[in-house]
Amino acid sequence: MAATGTIPSSILIVGSGVFGLSTAYALAQRDAFQNSTITLLERLDFPAPDAASIDSSRIIRPDYADPAYAALMSEAHPHWRGDFGAEERYTEAGLCLVQDSTGDSGDDAAHYYLVKALENVKSRLGLRVGRREAGGQVEPMETPEYVARVTTSMGGDCGRRGYVNWTSGWADAEAGMRYMRQLVDGIGRVKFRTAEVARLHYGTDRVEGVELVGGERLSADLVVLATGAWMPKLVDLRGIASATGQVLAYIDITQEEQDRFGSNPTLLCETNGMFIIPPRDRVLKVARHGYGYANPTTIPHPECPGETITVSLPRTKYDDPNLNIAPEGDKACREYLAKCIPSLAARPWTHTRICWYSDTPTGDWLISYHPTYRNLFVATGGSGHAYKFLPVIGERIVDVVMREERDELGAELVKKWKWPAQRKEEDHVWTDDWRGGVKGMILDEELAKGEIGGSRSRL
Ligand SMILES: Cc1cc2nc3c(=O)[nH]c(=O)nc-3n(C[C@H](O)[C@H](O)[C@H](O)COP(=O)(O)OP(=O)(O)OC[C@H]3O[C@@H](n4cnc5c(N)ncnc54)[C@H](O)[C@@H]3O)c2cc1C
Ligand SMILES: *[C@@H]1O[C@H](CO)[C@@H](O)[C@H](O)[C@H]1NC(C)=O
Ligand SMILES: *[C@@H]1O[C@H](CO)[C@@H](O)[C@H](O)[C@H]1NC(C)=O
Repeated sequence: MAATGTIPSSILIVGSGVFGLSTAYALAQRDAFQNSTITLLERLDFPAPDAASIDSSRIIRPDYADPAYAALMSEAHPHWRGDFGAEERYTEAGLCLVQDSTGDSGDDAAHYYLVKALENVKSRLGLRVGRREAGGQVEPMETPEYVARVTTSMGGDCGRRGYVNWTSGWADAEAGMRYMRQLVDGIGRVKFRTAEVARLHYGTDRVEGVELVGGERLSADLVVLATGAWMPKLVDLRGIASATGQVLAYIDITQEEQDRFGSNPTLLCETNGMFIIPPRDRVLKVARHGYGYANPTTIPHPECPGETITVSLPRTKYDDPNLNIAPEGDKACREYLAKCIPSLAARPWTHTRICWYSDTPTGDWLISYHPTYRNLFVATGGSGHAYKFLPVIGERIVDVVMREERDELGAELVKKWKWPAQRKEEDHVWTDDWRGGVKGMILDEELAKGEIGGSRSRL
């Protein structure tokens, strides 16, 4: 497929996360593709347990400072409140955004920002500001006592001030993905296959085909790569997008605790990136939206045979069943839990997980044709915030595939998502966005700190 308006007769999508599966859904629904074969390859049986899109929960948070993502979210939100959110897939229990004591002068700036944000809400969006009991949709919390009152069931010190947006919530991420899969199956246009793509066969200006692990070769008029944090293995994304490992820790709680915490708002601390999502089925989750770990791995250059490159790639429990979070991440989750819910301070984790973001410098996604290979389209770079758009993102991706701008927002999104004119100088991308944790951590180094005597044998 080359020129505008030409419909590819065969489309191969690689990766069944939010980006790949929602693209399949949108393609399957469009008349223009009614004669195209659509195949979706996924390396593990759906739902892939280590995919970024698969987990117990994801925050559905509409308050983007960026107007384009805010507008996209206002398209997605009604779906979460409708069919996507049915059967407890979405719980609108609020999002409690707090700032913690930092003691530094940045504090006042942060407070100013918060007040501004609230003013904005009042004037622009017409949301009711005030106490929830009085019908408030956005509830400012100006003092630590106020934060403590809203988070009273947790029993700890959850922050200094902030606000609750009672119109936000969280989704059961895996259930949302299963629902999307059901919708796609229902249309009956997409052929699913469990197979891992080993590499792409690049010609001078197009992709000739994909090679599966085991050697089989497939070709298609259009290849849509949506392999999330694994992308750098298949296409050279140095200086454009990198995998960064994020820490998650889960604990089992009692039914009594489930009842106590179950209808809490999600707690998200702007000061350190830590968050606690309300429990479901007696499991509570603590996590960090951080700069994350890089996992530098030397691999054959995906586009230039004979050369090698070093890029960050995910390492998950699928690669190493004994992989747990590194000590610094464990400590961060433990301290945050102990501070917010002291009664759970000593309860051991049931399990932990390192989940991989595909991070870009700006936090904008990468949804674009490849500048060199004209039948290669990429959809990745979720940067830790794409899940909430699941119900609508596929339509927007297919607009870009079709080079169509259906509205002003579409034109804006194309600009945000385009292949960057210039790569960053450093191969590994650390986001310029503000995040928790420190920047620059290397997975193996952090893991080694947990071994006896701090041995760095894993290096
Ligand atoms: C810990 C964590 C917390 C998050 N919290 C939020 C949140 O609160 N709110 C929010 O909106 N977003 C959140 N996100 C972000 C959101 O989950 C991601 O942006 C989104 O899921 C990315 O989807 P994806 O399709 O790019 O990647 P993935 O879901 O990882 O999908 C990629 C798929 O490709 C497959 N694959 C990889 N390589 C190959 C290959 N060679 N061949 C075949 N298949 C392959 C993988 O198995 C995988 O299934 C969070 C992410 C993480 C990790
Ligand atoms: C698909 O094929 C049918 C039968 O040949 C044809 O009538 C129809 O116009 C085609 N649709 C598109 C979108 O090309
Ligand atoms: C609260 O959520 C609404 C959407 O439900 C959003 O438009 C608004 O920006 C949010 N406000 C704040 C301050 O978080």
